[in-house]
Amino acid sequence: MKFELQYKDARSNARAGLITTAHGQIETPIFMPVGTLGTVKGVHLHELKNDIKAQIILGNTYHLYLRPGLDIIEGAGGLHKFNGFDRPMLTDSGGFQVFSLSGIRKMKEEGVEFRSHIDGSKHLFTPERVMDIERTIGADIMMAFDECAPGTSDYEYAKKSMELTHRWLDRCITRFNETEPKYGYEQSLFPIVQGCVYPDLRRRSAEYIASKNADGNAIGGLAVGEPTEKMYEMIEVVNEILPTDKPRYLMGVGTPVNILEGIERGVDMFDCVMPTRNGRNGMLFTKDGIMNMRNKKWENDYSPIEADGASYVDTMYSRAYLRHLFHAQELLAMQIASIHNLAFYLWLVGEARKHIIAGDFSTWKPAMVKRLSTRL
Ligand code: GUN
Repeated sequence: MKFELQYKDARSNARAGLITTAHGQIETPIFMPVGTLGTVKGVHLHELKNDIKAQIILGNTYHLYLRPGLDIIEGAGGLHKFNGFDRPMLTDSGGFQVFSLSGIRKMKEEGVEFRSHIDGSKHLFTPERVMDIERTIGADIMMAFDECAPGTSDYEYAKKSMELTHRWLDRCITRFNETEPKYGYEQSLFPIVQGCVYPDLRRRSAEYIASKNADGNAIGGLAVGEPTEKMYEMIEVVNEILPTDKPRYLMGVGTPVNILEGIERGVDMFDCVMPTRNGRNGMLFTKDGIMNMRNKKWENDYSPIEADGASYVDTMYSRAYLRHLFHAQELLAMQIASIHNLAFYLWLVGEARKHIIAGDFSTWKPAMVKRLSTRL
């Protein structure tokens, strides 16, 4: 994998770059639609590639390992062959899902013992096992196995958790280096900075992660219950230390405003379930603010969803029709909302990139944040 830093904003830490992987290039800053189970919920590949223009999507180790299981994915020749998405993919390590989804779990130095949220079966994830699983899934970017401590963790817990994540990282790197890709193309390993809301821990973690000289670096443990201002402060602390010549990935973040704030602070890659999950609940993100499509306000509004929106669905359907679909619990409602929101997120990061390149990001961004913060 290669990262080329193309433009650097003169008035902030915002950057525009180009990542080259075995499955193609990614223009940064980028938003990565979440496809936990190897599918971006409710969205066909045709729309994902041509309308939303996804350049990279996510898969999840925890979910794919439990279902359909590694034999099925390996039988297909890896996740790209299995789901048909021939562009770059990234797998999260399960370091987040094991803690948030599985029932009974036991943390040990060795790894995490957990029960499947599907059938209650018992499993052990160690850093070595997770590297092997991610090799089998075959994503272009593999995330290290970490512990994502809650945003409300006290200092002692946060410190212990961060130190464990660092020890696990060393084991991930060893296993990664001992093993070969299974499908003939290169994979990269991204380590993850932890340290909760404590600046000294974040600094220590960023220094440790930076010393590994990985192809890219991630910031984890944010948007997990801490105040938004703390999240921005932690991004600043960490990005002062993470190398500028490698992509920086802020995990699980966030709202359109969070993304612009992250870009301003030097983040290159984002993922979040918000556009799809909130979309399925009737929330639409637009450049003029947030719309709740279930609202009575849209009952007789026959105007397009978004007249100059980023997707074909925006002018194909009216607000009144989409509201009707949500109230009737029609599947199409969720599909339209997911496509709209993802196309909007990809449009937004594309615009940010254009303005970084044009040199007016610092005037464009606050005006856009103001527009985005409206409730329609
Ligand atoms: N997704 C959102 N936050 C995190 C994190 O801290 N670690 C991992 N592995 N995934 C995440």
